[in-house]
Amino acid sequence: MRRFILAAASVLLLGFPSEAQQSNPFPAGESRDLIAVACTQCHRAGPITQLRMGEAGWRRQVYNMVLRGAQIGPDEIEDVVKYLATNFGPGVPVPGVTPAPVKLRDGAGADLVAGACGTCHGVDRVVAVARPGGQWEAIVHRMVAIGAPVDAGQAGQIISYLQKNYGAAPSKAP
Ligand code: HEC
Ligand code: HEC
Repeated sequence: MRRFILAAASVLLLGFPSEAQQSNPFPAGESRDLIAVACTQCHRAGPITQLRMGEAGWRRQVYNMVLRGAQIGPDEIEDVVKYLATNFGPGVPVPGVTPAPVKLRDGAGADLVAGACGTCHGVDRVVAVARPGGQWEAIVHRMVAIGAPVDAGQAGQIISYLQKNYGAAPSKAP
């Protein structure tokens, strides 16, 4: 039995190296083995490896998953959060996604957007769609909650900039 398993394993490894590699999409690190098992029971790894958040965002996500049944012990949570924020945090490129370069409209706050809003996804994603003011406010607060590195004052400037330069529907403007 054991010999059979070893033989089967080596056939897999030798015969299909790319599949074997893809089967563990989690980079090396503490907590990797735990995550590779506990976080792929209900969905694949894709939703995790394609996402980018800071520690606070990942912490909320992990608690949510534990509530749903993920097998992570209370004393393992912080290590898991650190692993996720390190490997799938701001500044780590998302495989297969190349952000399009954008020229932001001039205005106070443009360089804040360029600096703080393009580390998890491209700035192209930020300004792809014009939106009503309240939506900009909600989005920026959501981004700050999951790890955009700005303080309250800077968040306010970004909201004003986006509302002014990428606001939706002229009928909604004052
Ligand atoms: C018991 C089932 C279950 C397990 C185990 C589980 N998840 Fe989830 N996960 C879900 C469900 C259901 C959703 C979709 C609903 C949602 O987004 O809240 C989801 C969605 C997600 C998303 C997508 C969120 C988004 O906005 O696209 C991420 C990221 C995620 N899970 C991460 C994890 C991580 C990290 C772990 C391991 C700590 C984990 N999941 C383990 C059930 C599970
Ligand atoms: C820490 C990582 C991170 C940073 C930094 C970040 N974002 Fe995001 N952003 C995300 C994630 C993850 C999503 C997709 C999930 C979601 O919509 O909540 C997203 C989605 C978006 C979307 C699409 C929302 C939708 O409903 O379609 C917009 C617009 C956006 N971000 C704007 C911003 C702005 C503005 C900033 C700068 C203040 C910013 N982002 C900085 C992680 C980040």
